[in-house]
Amino acid sequence: MNNFTYRMPMTVYFNEDSNVIEEELAKAGENILLAYGGGSIKKNGIYDELMAMLTRLDKNVVEFSGIMPNPTYAKVQEGAKLCRQHKIDFILAVGGGSVFDCVKIVSLQAKTDEDIWAMQERKEYTTSGIPFGAILTVSGTGSEMNNIAIITNEDKHIKGPLMGSYAKFALLNVNYTMSVPMPQVISGAFDTFSHAMETYFGKHKNVSDDIALAIMKNTVTNMLKMKEDPMNKEIRSELMWDSAMAENGILKIGKITDFQIHQIEHQLGAYTNCNHGYGLAVITPHFYEHLYLYNISAFVKFGKVVWDLKGDDLEIAEKSIDCLAHFIKEMGLPTTFKDMHITDKSILRKVADTCNIMPGCAKQFSRDELYNILLECL
Ligand code: NZQ
Ligand code: ZN
Repeated sequence: MNNFTYRMPMTVYFNEDSNVIEEELAKAGENILLAYGGGSIKKNGIYDELMAMLTRLDKNVVEFSGIMPNPTYAKVQEGAKLCRQHKIDFILAVGGGSVFDCVKIVSLQAKTDEDIWAMQERKEYTTSGIPFGAILTVSGTGSEMNNIAIITNEDKHIKGPLMGSYAKFALLNVNYTMSVPMPQVISGAFDTFSHAMETYFGKHKNVSDDIALAIMKNTVTNMLKMKEDPMNKEIRSELMWDSAMAENGILKIGKITDFQIHQIEHQLGAYTNCNHGYGLAVITPHFYEHLYLYNISAFVKFGKVVWDLKGDDLEIAEKSIDCLAHFIKEMGLPTTFKDMHITDKSILRKVADTCNIMPGCAKQFSRDELYNILLECL
């Protein structure tokens, strides 16, 4: 087991309604930045509900809208400028991974004239940020419970992790997520599954692996149930908590995580702006075909627990990847880059050449090997 420090400085409200945050907002200062995406919150009533609360609390509300899926560093700068201009005291972030990730860095950038990206490249980190609260409207990334921000730097062609602020509170109410289109719900749930897998297949086996397997099993079971009963709130609540658990750091305790597939997918996103869960779904089975022989015991346990496989160890390890590929197909996720309208081999070359190589992966692939795996995904 690897040494670790675990810190979770936030309150999570699960399936509570929005009045649980009223008291926190009342204390939050006068000027509130309401941050959100492309406008889904205006169609499903969440915007009206929150505006009514903020008006009741007599707040000055400044809107920061249009945070795009795969948020850009330019958008972060726009938000930081708004915060400085309007002397923002608190940010209310309403959305999913994209809104939260953008706000986590807006929070820090607003408090310094130094460029956060450049600072973090120099391994200089600041934690002094404008406090924010997270209201989840789409689950999958688990971003609401961590301080990781995946931001696309368009000038540098890097979609990279930055260290941002933690939310002071997160409100996870399944009712807010029911209007998410089903393809995005499934993409998000696969992202959750991938977080648990990529943590589990990393180094230093310990009790966290058993928790990760439980999250994987529960995610698969509930994704299959959701196919039959898409609007069932109990099923969707299970997936919402799987999502938070998979990325809130608990599964990573004592581990050096793998996350090589995520690094590849993020660079694919930097060059194509593709949907995160879709990219993971296409790459994962191909990548694991090349990985499993270097981590047999983990794949055997994965096969036994997640896919209920029995028999010879090597056979179970191999079959576990077939089961995963079959599941991806059954859920209607893309299985090739062509399904995602990605056909340009030169992009795949750039992805292989620029993605981070992860120390927690059981095999350190060369860039040519990664490129060849990506060609198999076409
Ligand atoms: O922008 P709006 O109009 O709100 O529409 C969004 C968006 O188009 C829509 N949506 C959200 N809530 C909705 C809704 N539509 C209808 N009803 C609702 N209630 O959903 C679309 C996707 O939203 P987005 O926030 O982009 O999705 P997700 O939560 O999957 O976030 C993806 C981003 O998070 C990063 C990804 O790389 C990607 O940039 N990740 C962040 C992680 C983290 N911080 O821990 C870890 C992940 O591995 C991931 O990399
Ligand atoms: Zn992810």
